[in-house]
Amino acid sequence: MKIVEDYDPSLPATFVDGDQMLQVFLNLIKNAAQASEGESGTIRLKTFYDMSLRLRRKDGTASLPLNVEIYDDGPGLPAELAPDIFEPFVSGRENGTGLGLALVSKIVSDHEGWISVDSVPGRTVFRISLPVAPKDAPS
Ligand SMILES: Nc1ncnc2c1ncn2[C@@H]1O[C@H](COP(=O)(O)OP(=O)(O)O)[C@@H](O)[C@H]1O
Ligand SMILES: [Mg+2]
Repeated sequence: MKIVEDYDPSLPATFVDGDQMLQVFLNLIKNAAQASEGESGTIRLKTFYDMSLRLRRKDGTASLPLNVEIYDDGPGLPAELAPDIFEPFVSGRENGTGLGLALVSKIVSDHEGWISVDSVPGRTVFRISLPVAPKDAPS
């Protein structure tokens, strides 16, 4: 498969558990590769800044401007699974556990981030939105 990287070099830091976030991206990239199995698809990894994405929390406003997208040009989510894709044990693959996306969404929400998916045949995009690290966070 072809992997295209499109990273914004000017992004500010976020604050994550690196091992857990690695699990997130490995799961999403593996799913993207499995979806396009047999065909020479393209996976695109993109990071960008989106100031418009804001969330109001009890303690005031927070924004989630750091975005990471994992894009593939495979067949898309099976329509009957799409509403439940982040629930455990929901799998469209013969030997799938259905645990990958459940873990991914747990880790992302533990980091006070969001995950969303937009999928049609030929274009599936998982987007993770993360807050900027607080100014006093260790680097
Ligand atoms: N990029 C993708 N393209 C198409 N379908 C996907 C994609 N990512 C996930 N899926 C669907 O979501 C299901 C659940 O994924 P996941 O939670 O990782 O479990 P598993 O990979 O064990 O099946 C997959 O079985 C597949 O049907
Ligand atoms: Mg998986």
